[in-house]
Amino acid sequence: MSESECTHNCSTCASKKNGSCGQDATTKAISEQLAKIKHKIVVLSGKGGVGKSTCAVNLAISLAMEGHKVGLLDVDLHGPSVPTMLKLQNAVPETEDDKIIPIHAAGISVISVAFFLHSNDDPVIWRGPMKQGAIQQFIADVKWGELDYLVIDCPPGTGDEPLGVCQMIPDAEAVIVTTPQEVAASDVRRSVNFCRQLNLSILGVIENMSGFACPHCGEITYIFKQGGGEKLAEQMNLNFLGKIPIDPGIGDCSDAGTPFVHFRGKTATAIAFQDIVSKIAGE
Ligand SMILES: Nc1ncnc2c1ncn2[C@@H]1O[C@H](COP(=O)(O)OP(=O)(O)OP(=O)(O)O)[C@@H](O)[C@H]1O
Ligand SMILES: [Mg+2]
Repeated sequence: MSESECTHNCSTCASKKNGSCGQDATTKAISEQLAKIKHKIVVLSGKGGVGKSTCAVNLAISLAMEGHKVGLLDVDLHGPSVPTMLKLQNAVPETEDDKIIPIHAAGISVISVAFFLHSNDDPVIWRGPMKQGAIQQFIADVKWGELDYLVIDCPPGTGDEPLGVCQMIPDAEAVIVTTPQEVAASDVRRSVNFCRQLNLSILGVIENMSGFACPHCGEITYIFKQGGGEKLAEQMNLNFLGKIPIDPGIGDCSDAGTPFVHFRGKTATAIAFQDIVSKIAGE
């Protein structure tokens, strides 16, 4: 195909240099890869810091603990936190037959942009098309193999990364994370409407940081409000997947790179993750 015939108008493909558009091959590679993955779960929220990455990591590991084959893709290109949560800051993926081999940790296969940066402090300064190119590569050029679930951790909001993922993976299903406070509600509505506009089905809403789980007896104390996520799910006609209580162990485990559901499996918060996974796997 000559450059003038390329209809993709993409700045990342090679068409402008060598006169052949690589986009068709990439699209084909993406659909071949995705055909081997049964369920694709995109973790979204309108707001930052509500616990998307915590949920993505712990849901992925809980699914693996139930015997599923699971991949975790971190597309938070500007603020990847998955490698820290799994103590993979120094991981460097190997390649085989021109494909990237994901890093295996805690029973799951992991890919993050952080694995390809020189230093963990390097900022990613990319415009939209470069981000799309990176996400395409994370799907097309990674040896994910046959998976039951691919969990995708997104940055907050409805920008290039979630948009790219949702457009590339039309059968992806969204999990929306929120906190119990009303103030998070309009952000959630935005995420829900984003999914609806893109025809993405929504598995449901998780209310994270919902009450405080006593580390001694497990009793939940609702320090702030509770039920905001549940109410919103009802109003927007969505499944409510469950409440995840605050547990200081989550921060400790994230900092130490020891997955919470592995190491504190008997806590109320870990059980909440397992309950959500049973609902997701039962759907
Ligand atoms: N249930 C919880 N109990 C205690 N701490 C939590 C809980 N959920 C998340 N945290 C802590 O809150 C902080 C933010 O969580 P996390 O990084 O998962 O949020 P995020 O939505 O992915 O943020 P960002 O929008 O920046 O990507 C982290 O320090 C994490 O350890
Ligand atoms: Mg995050």
